[in-house]
Amino acid sequence: MISNKINNRLTNSSMIRAMFEEGAKLKKLYGADKVYDFSLGNPDPEPPAEVKAALRELATSEELGMHLYMNNAGFPEVRETIANKINRETGLQLSFNNVVMTVGAGGALNVVLKTLLDPDEEVIIFAPYFVEYSSYIDNHGGKTVIVNTDAKTFLPDPELLRTKITPATKAILINTPNNPTGVVYGEDILKAIAKVLEEKSKEYGHTIYIISDEPYRKLAYDVEVPNILTIYRNAIMIDCFSKSLSLPGERMGYIATNPEADDIETLMNGLIYCNRVLGYVNAPALFQKIIAKSIDASVDINIYKERRDLLYNGLTSFGYECVKPDGAFYLFPKALIADDVEFKNRALKYNLLIVPGSGFGGPGHFRLAYCVSLETIKNSLPAFEALAKEFK
Ligand SMILES: Cc1ncc(COP(=O)(O)O)c(C=O)c1O
Repeated sequence: MISNKINNRLTNSSMIRAMFEEGAKLKKLYGADKVYDFSLGNPDPEPPAEVKAALRELATSEELGMHLYMNNAGFPEVRETIANKINRETGLQLSFNNVVMTVGAGGALNVVLKTLLDPDEEVIIFAPYFVEYSSYIDNHGGKTVIVNTDAKTFLPDPELLRTKITPATKAILINTPNNPTGVVYGEDILKAIAKVLEEKSKEYGHTIYIISDEPYRKLAYDVEVPNILTIYRNAIMIDCFSKSLSLPGERMGYIATNPEADDIETLMNGLIYCNRVLGYVNAPALFQKIIAKSIDASVDINIYKERRDLLYNGLTSFGYECVKPDGAFYLFPKALIADDVEFKNRALKYNLLIVPGSGFGGPGHFRLAYCVSLETIKNSLPAFEALAKEFK
């Protein structure tokens, strides 16, 4: 028998699996083009031309040793390319020593949490949150503390945060642009959070870190995503190429730190050690090199922006309430009844696959991932309208 803990987790995560199966059944019954599947955050635009060109070039390269183990932190020249890019954008002075290449953002989060946490130390997350956070924190013996965001804006309240910090708080984990709400945290709010953490770190006599999970950093529409490393010295930034280059299956990400962070050498040694002993060993070699060659590339974010506008404008015109997302590729509208699981079932009757907000710590809402074609969104709008009419 497997562990009780994992068995319980399996039971709790069966909803998304059940939805996946339901979707497959509906597609078989009605045809894939008649089912509007907004359930998965799997980016559908192809990777940019630069990525494909680099892949072709490296596939025929005679360079020796390209596929061997390297330093657990990754190839120094790749890390330097990333450090230089951050320096150009921020004016900071990172060196390759401040960058660790990782197996996606998911790998990076596990590396950071393993490095930081002693048993029962607390990590604060803001609801609604990315579903895996509490599992990742639990992986490394930590305790998740959930703090709600403002019900109207999904922005955190720094003063509410202050009341949740205890002597056991080791870090807060933020995610901007946010999955599932699409909200981007502005500089003011990040500075206010940083101030609270500086004060609390002083009060308790130990560093409280900000772990900033930023897979959607490049997918921001009309707003700047501030760089957390410029705002808080003890921030640990996590970025990946899963969304910005449409490469989630290639598992590439990185961790970056501020050279002025407390005890930086030990922190970096810890991160590199944990990357190794978690069994990642190092990030995939070939794709590290591809990333370095396409460092300034990005998928065309106008593709996502156009979809956001179509879906947001459509839904709000039918009476759905929704915070207009500034980034990522999610919408998190209010369900039209309090029971979001029942609402998901009612949507299914119109072949709409949506995810209940409860799984993200946002009950009474639902998540739409607009990683689907403009055509699918257009065709889905009458179904959303008919669904809304049921509740008028
Ligand atoms: C907020 C957030 N963090 C982390 C991840 C994991 O990213 P990766 O596929 O790079 O591991 C995702 C993926 O959807 C995400 O939405």
